[in-house]
Amino acid sequence: MATVFVSNEASGETRVAATPETVRRMIAEGNSVAVAAGAGAGAHFPDEAYAAAGATIATDVAGAWAAADLVLKVNPPTPDEALRLKEGAVLASFLYPLSNLPAVGALASRKAVAFALDRVPRISRAQAMDALSSQASIAGYKAVLLAADHLPRVMPLMMTAAGTLTPARIVVLGAGVAGLQAIATAKRLGAVVEVSDVRSAAKEQVESLGARFISVEGAEDLSGAGGYAKEASEEFLRRQQIEVRKRIVAADAVITTALVPGRKAPRLVTSDMVRDMRPGSVIVDLAVEQGGNCEESEDGRVVTKHGVTIVGLRNLPGLVPVHASEVFSRNLLEVVRLLFPKGVRTVDLADEIIAGAVVTLEGTVRAPDVAEALAKAS
Ligand code: NAI
Repeated sequence: MATVFVSNEASGETRVAATPETVRRMIAEGNSVAVAAGAGAGAHFPDEAYAAAGATIATDVAGAWAAADLVLKVNPPTPDEALRLKEGAVLASFLYPLSNLPAVGALASRKAVAFALDRVPRISRAQAMDALSSQASIAGYKAVLLAADHLPRVMPLMMTAAGTLTPARIVVLGAGVAGLQAIATAKRLGAVVEVSDVRSAAKEQVESLGARFISVEGAEDLSGAGGYAKEASEEFLRRQQIEVRKRIVAADAVITTALVPGRKAPRLVTSDMVRDMRPGSVIVDLAVEQGGNCEESEDGRVVTKHGVTIVGLRNLPGLVPVHASEVFSRNLLEVVRLLFPKGVRTVDLADEIIAGAVVTLEGTVRAPDVAEALAKAS
């Protein structure tokens, strides 16, 4: 039987790592669960709901970190939080280890098993644990609603007694998990949608959602390991820009979701394009945390430049905290089942998911890229 602690998050985060439903399941599977007081408040799960599910409510948060065999969290721990862990305990959360080296160092010093949700390999068996995808879907959906909210016009074709209103034209850049959900949402709202991506597999998926794929002359498939994109060449980006520019300057809204793992987000919407966009149009830049797909985006802010509203808000899943927490919690429940089958901690490195996602183990940093970055930083 494992002692599980559901941590609270830093202020500004509304999501929580377990819901009363997943707490109930963890307890039914033989674990004991403590939840930090108020941890679910931002997602409208009150302490009483966790208590009714069988959890204890922890007011001594530092003590609960130290007592747990397994800590569940949404965001990476601070180094101080990591240092509170019991020696050899397990932490499962988003970790983004290359951006959080001090926390990784602290986790290693506690001989912790750090399971990074952002490093779960994208294989079929791991789909139920794929928190990047569960959160990206919600972000893609919310991005379109933000665009609709900021647009000074309607999305669908509307036939009224006072005349016909034409549907909004939306360009989506990047047709991964977030992009596909954005396309589906924009189509449901009645917009006309055009899409660019560098992976050739994206074309069929885009078309199956009823959107148009923007073809780039001489395009080569840039699908890389794990279904992610490889970095595009300067030449490809130049040709892509020519095609994309034509659509962007005619668009009402542009949703950008393009990412390349381990790199800064590709700059796809230049200042020059923003200047040529229609007044009142909207850009929602989902890549803002990775440097932004739009040159004019400002991290964490909504700004108006050249008459265009540019939404650079972070953490869009946090604006939909109930469902974002529900799916995140179910992802984590599967991780708990993987690492604690029958309540017994089992870190089997022969398992591809564990080998891919466990960053620190027994005092060492297992992930070679992270170990190298730590060595350089010290
Ligand atoms: P991501 O968040 O890393 O990137 C978003 C999108 O941006 C990708 O589609 C990428 O191709 C695109 N992109 C990169 N550079 C671009 C450029 N210069 N111009 C336009 N688009 C560009 O990717 P995400 O959403 O995490 O998923 C990538 C792929 O992995 C998808 O095919 C997805 O379906 C697949 N996947 C597979 C899973 C599984 O088999 N278990 C689980 C989740 C995703």
